[in-house]
Amino acid sequence: MSDSHPLEIPGMVAVSGGCGGLSRVCVTSPCSTAEIYPHGAHVTGFRKNGEPPLLFMSDSSVFRTGKAIRGGIPIIFPWFGDREGHPAHGYARTAEWEFHDSSVLADGSIRLVFRLPASGNFEVMSLVTVGECLSLELDVRNAGESDETFENCFHTYFEVGDIDTVSIHGLTGCGYFDKVASKTRIETAASIRIAGEVDRVYSGTTATVEITDPTLGRTIRVAKSGSASTVVWNPWIAKSKAMADFGDNEYRRMVCVESGNVGEDKVTLSPGDQSTLKMEISSGDAG
Ligand code: BG6
Repeated sequence: MSDSHPLEIPGMVAVSGGCGGLSRVCVTSPCSTAEIYPHGAHVTGFRKNGEPPLLFMSDSSVFRTGKAIRGGIPIIFPWFGDREGHPAHGYARTAEWEFHDSSVLADGSIRLVFRLPASGNFEVMSLVTVGECLSLELDVRNAGESDETFENCFHTYFEVGDIDTVSIHGLTGCGYFDKVASKTRIETAASIRIAGEVDRVYSGTTATVEITDPTLGRTIRVAKSGSASTVVWNPWIAKSKAMADFGDNEYRRMVCVESGNVGEDKVTLSPGDQSTLKMEISSGDAG
């Protein structure tokens, strides 16, 4: 007889062995299902009943200690991008987080809480709420005695039907750093279309972003707070081929719209202060 995990809730929260033998938490709410790996506190799936998955997961993803999962929602902390001699996008996405709490909220949605093992002066919690929408919250507290600066990001991979038909709204007029061209620019397009490698860090924006996907017949809405940066990424053909944990043609059915605070929007916390990054993703019929 196998022991059940103390945070399981019958019919709603179950802990089992997932891919690669890593622990996985499966959530069933009245209107949706989700999967979260304590490895990275990584949401690998969210699906509203009767709809296709909202999050893209690579079929080539590796599930292994020390390696980031490819797809879903990696948590980027405490730095974004490359840092010499250190793992790209920080250590949070490869850390084994402690599954700390589970509860049912008044509206029937289910909340899980994960805690990042001690990391310097940072106390970090991730809250995942599964219901009609998927909500994520990253709380960072400076428990030290001097200022601490960090970057954070929910590096969300969205599932789309066909990248050629997708348009992304909400960033018109924003300044961004174009990582492909290594140039700072202003977004002039009324909506962003993807027809080549896109890797852009939009700064100073708190706007909700909408991803319109006529192929799957839905619009995805990414609302956020405590976030001044939005990153839009699609690796396109050459970069896809260069990634061992990403299929050659998978760029056609994904786009990352990431919510956080990176580059010039990085966060500095005084001793004892806390920051909260929140993101709520939802979907509806394409307009
Ligand atoms: C994006 C970055 O957020 O993540 C890209 O802007 C990067 O530059 C991409 O290539 C994927 O990063 P990684 O480390 O998961 O391969």
